[in-house]
Amino acid sequence: MNIVYHAKSKTFHLYNDRLSYIMTVLRNGHLGQLYCGARIHDREDFSYFLEFAPRAMSACPYENDRSFSLEHLRQELPSFGTGDYRDGAVEVFQEDGSRLTDFHYVNHQITPGKPKLNGLPATYTESDGEAMTLLVTLRDDLTGVTAELSYTIFRDFGALARSVRYSNKGDRPVTLTRAMSLCLDLPDCDYDWLQFSGCWTRERKPVCRRPEQGITAVGSRRGHSSHEQNPFVVLKRPTADEDQGEAFGLSLVYSGNFLIQAEVDAHSTLRLLAGIHPEGFGWLLKPGESFQTPEAVLVYADRGLGDMSRTFHRLYGRRLARGVWRDQPRPILINNWEATYFDFNEDKLLRLARQAKDCGIELFVLDDGWFGRRTDDRAGLGDWTPNPARLPNGIQGLAEKIEALGMRFGLWFEPEAVNKNSAMYEQHPDWLLATPGRTPSQGRYEYLLDFSRPEVVDNLHAQMAAILGGAKVSYVKWDMNRSISECYSAALPPGRQGEVYHRYILGVYDLYERLTKEFPHILFESCASGGGRFDPGMLYYAPQCWTSDNTDAVERLRIQYGTSFCYPVSSMGAHVSAVPNHQMYRVTPLETRANVACFGTFGYELDLGRLSGEELGEIKKQVAFMKEYRALLQFGDFYRLKSPFEGNTAAWMTVSGDKRRAVVGFYRILNTSNDAYTRLRLRGLDPDRLYRIKGTEACHYGDELMRAGLITSDSTAGEQYGVVKPCTDFISRLYILDAAD
Ligand code: GLA
Repeated sequence: MNIVYHAKSKTFHLYNDRLSYIMTVLRNGHLGQLYCGARIHDREDFSYFLEFAPRAMSACPYENDRSFSLEHLRQELPSFGTGDYRDGAVEVFQEDGSRLTDFHYVNHQITPGKPKLNGLPATYTESDGEAMTLLVTLRDDLTGVTAELSYTIFRDFGALARSVRYSNKGDRPVTLTRAMSLCLDLPDCDYDWLQFSGCWTRERKPVCRRPEQGITAVGSRRGHSSHEQNPFVVLKRPTADEDQGEAFGLSLVYSGNFLIQAEVDAHSTLRLLAGIHPEGFGWLLKPGESFQTPEAVLVYADRGLGDMSRTFHRLYGRRLARGVWRDQPRPILINNWEATYFDFNEDKLLRLARQAKDCGIELFVLDDGWFGRRTDDRAGLGDWTPNPARLPNGIQGLAEKIEALGMRFGLWFEPEAVNKNSAMYEQHPDWLLATPGRTPSQGRYEYLLDFSRPEVVDNLHAQMAAILGGAKVSYVKWDMNRSISECYSAALPPGRQGEVYHRYILGVYDLYERLTKEFPHILFESCASGGGRFDPGMLYYAPQCWTSDNTDAVERLRIQYGTSFCYPVSSMGAHVSAVPNHQMYRVTPLETRANVACFGTFGYELDLGRLSGEELGEIKKQVAFMKEYRALLQFGDFYRLKSPFEGNTAAWMTVSGDKRRAVVGFYRILNTSNDAYTRLRLRGLDPDRLYRIKGTEACHYGDELMRAGLITSDSTAGEQYGVVKPCTDFISRLYILDAAD
């Protein structure tokens, strides 16, 4: 890993084993992009990467040079309106009404390690040797605004992190109306664009399209990263697949409104932009003030999508997630939501906890409904004190009883929300996000608190800290169950209303930061009606996230598969729930429900009291299995094998770092009759090592399993009387491979 500056050619080359990123100072002082891709040799001068041709109809800054036009140059901080007709990375609204800027190079600094981003989540290093950072300062002379572009290259990951800090060093106020985190101009557009889209209970389905001349984009203006789109896209060569080919993964470490877009121009160059959604955004920068953009992370892989995903998994699992739980196998939990919904009291909870304990479950999580006036979803949000009618001994008393059983205790909060039927609203009606003169919309009877106001964050902090400090709480599920609407803060002047969405998220981050610092032992799980805020920003505070409110095993296969393109298994909350499933009304075998959930942070969410002795026996075995294998399942190298979006079967596997152990999950959705034999070509094994398949006599070399495949045929391939278990719909199997030596 290194960052080299070639003074003569004014060229920067950032590289590690996997990737090179090369920039130069252009003739007009702007920062130009020369190359981004697989590692190449360093050279004094790469200026031949700049293609110039005098093109008709181009606006050119130099009278005597028709070949130099911003419209055709690849740039790092472009802005619209000065001859570049593509969308820009920055826009500064000035007092005279102009929006033009001319950011030119001033100086740069190369430092070991990676500086923190104040108030924002970001990847980090644990020692200076892990990364190097280049800070390039550009300035727009007329406004005095500087842009400090930060590029971090990691030693151990084929990844580059980029963000921008704007400072108003002039003497007049300006408003930033566009402040993207990353701009990458690529010389061709021969890519497939992969986005991860869906909606509530159907999150993160991979959707592939071809960027054509014009704009291909995903984004959110819902105030959270959203169920509908994820702040993550992939540009892959059309021939690339899981095992081979080039792919760029672009991920924004942010939980609010975002935009990621690819703009293809008339000459087939592609501009990738990622950052806070400019629509509705405006940040007043008075003289002396600064604005820090969120961080964008670019991963380059030349060995396919699997390789790209594993880079994200390692980077986000180890250098974005933080805290004592980061590297620890996660507790097996039982959550009472789908077991009781709002219908519970202390006795009922304790009964469930005792049954769970009997199965070996380690953590009892009390979900929604324990506080204030809340007995259904119409009241109580905002008042985080226990309801004595339901919990006569309070949270403290309940937690003590759970601990006395030998389990840990966890608790649900939805700190950002408020019901009108609450003491909080009665005392602070102006703390709602609401536009003057307009009726605020409700969502699930709830409104959002104005987290852009420090006093609101302080209030929630005091309420939550009192509960967490007053009882033995080991886990917190932080929910958020509606999108922002009528966004407006009563505390900000009209000229600052464009700041509210971002200030809201900064308030959320602030509360998370305070609580995770004060209660470092607590495992936080983020949630937004399931997967509405499954993003890297949240992972910085909460190492796991409730992946989706859909707990049906078949749907979960798809959701977890799509989620795995960017996010590690250790981040995916996954529970075994009741059948018929509460979202899909589908009946799947208990075994399959567990076989899907074990590729996640495993738990149960059902009334154990309704299960038969046989089923409880099966659960005990599942829990014991998970205890033995969770470190491997959650922290091993994850390989997608068969997509549930492409056929009737799906498969994935996890391999230990030393390649001595692997777990393969194989799933058949509908039963078939008289079907073909099936083989599953495994991935990631040591080709020269012999593996024993647990529960059988079979022993195979890694190369056999990867080239010829694991034979997964069952009784659907012809009649096999008495040989294997009869098949039904939704069957699944786990194969455990252990090194035979
Ligand atoms: C959201 C969450 C669920 C549950 C309910 C409680 O929908 O995603 O898991 O906590 O809220 O109201």
